[in-house]
Amino acid sequence: MNSSKNNMKRENFGSKFGAIFATAGSAVGLGNIWRFPIETGQNGGAAFILIYIACILLLGLPLMLSEFVIGRHTQSNATRAYHLLAPGTPWKWVGRLGVFAGFIVLSYYSVVAGWTAKYAVLAIGNQFQGCDPDSLRTTFSAFASDPWEPLLYLLIMLLMTHAVVVIGIQKGIEKCSNILMPILLVIIFVLVICSVTLDGASEGVRFLLKPDWSKIDSHLVISAMGQAFFSLSLGLGCLCTYASYFKKDSNLPNIAIQVITLDTLIALMAGFIIFPATSAAGMPLDSGVMGPELIFVTLPNVFQQALSGLPWLAYSFSVLFFILLIIAALTSAISMHEIVTSYMKEEFHLTRKKAALIETLGCVVIGALCALSFGVLDNVRIFDKSIFDFCDWVVCEFCMPIGAILISIFVGWYLKRKTVENEITNNGTLRVPLFRALIFILRFVAPVAITLIFLDQFHLLS
Ligand code: ALA
Repeated sequence: MNSSKNNMKRENFGSKFGAIFATAGSAVGLGNIWRFPIETGQNGGAAFILIYIACILLLGLPLMLSEFVIGRHTQSNATRAYHLLAPGTPWKWVGRLGVFAGFIVLSYYSVVAGWTAKYAVLAIGNQFQGCDPDSLRTTFSAFASDPWEPLLYLLIMLLMTHAVVVIGIQKGIEKCSNILMPILLVIIFVLVICSVTLDGASEGVRFLLKPDWSKIDSHLVISAMGQAFFSLSLGLGCLCTYASYFKKDSNLPNIAIQVITLDTLIALMAGFIIFPATSAAGMPLDSGVMGPELIFVTLPNVFQQALSGLPWLAYSFSVLFFILLIIAALTSAISMHEIVTSYMKEEFHLTRKKAALIETLGCVVIGALCALSFGVLDNVRIFDKSIFDFCDWVVCEFCMPIGAILISIFVGWYLKRKTVENEITNNGTLRVPLFRALIFILRFVAPVAITLIFLDQFHLLS
């Protein structure tokens, strides 16, 4: 395989930090700050967190390294990478599946990203002050079902993503991640300190630190694996595409460990913002308060109640939180946009500008249908699901698990062990003591574990 000839003018991330921040930016998103606390609340707190961390280490790390190997070795987009490694075989469909999944996720993810932008505007305008849960719920449903406003915010978020991707790898994606990720870390850190020092926060902290072992069952384990999966952007082609921009001498195991550590810390910190604030507001910590409405209905209320004597702090808390969400959503959206843009650019020989435009227009169309499915298109059902839920279902319950099973088989069984070893150790210049364990996990543990997640979606395990 001679990829270097194909990719002579291909851009790279310019620095080690740029590569880490961009990849961490792809992983850190609504999955960490919104989905992780919901899953933790619904699955009993600390016990869920421990199993989640075990899944990240056992499953997430090997799969992330696999995508890095495929991307960096070929220095190509997600589809061409498989074509170069396995010419003339159907493996290229794994790459195509990732590109398709990335396109669909970006379309509906941008709808929720648009909601966070709207809520940042509301927070800045101090619109949550004095609102009770009922009025917050009414505000949210009126906004989400409006035929125009969600489309406007969807467009704003997609255009911001588009602009960064069009600028390119180093000046767009890397620069943007280098600026946004540290801001995200500072905001989240400030919010954690404020939250854990609130009166009555200790119950929330205990909920996250003291495991109730009786909560661990097969459902909890499977939920934790699914969350680990979503959070690390596995099986979407993002990691493979970003790794194709890593330099040849970058240390893949180190990048994977640093990205996973950042992603997990940010998810945990999101928990340490939400649960202590929730207990300080005197609200229940489990599923009662932690439903899908968490961010847009429950949280503004939590901030108001927990900080009722300090309105300026409630205001700052809300503003910072929604800005944090926009940043997290944006860096993930950029990575999903890049999967499709690099695919279109390289496979159809388009300019970056044209490729990005086609991707953005496609996402506007599918995203608009998803956004309207909360209002005027509410009655359109596919397999008894709204358009938004159908897109989420197709990706999370089919594309991601099937993609990840195939990636582990591809790297564990199909690729020559020497190819994988050379890529991970930079041709023997790095010492990777757990290489044999990695191959064992990719061959046996990962395919079996992910197949279990997959079957659970259809209740075939119970
Ligand atoms: N990994 C991205 C997130 O967690 C998709 O939001």
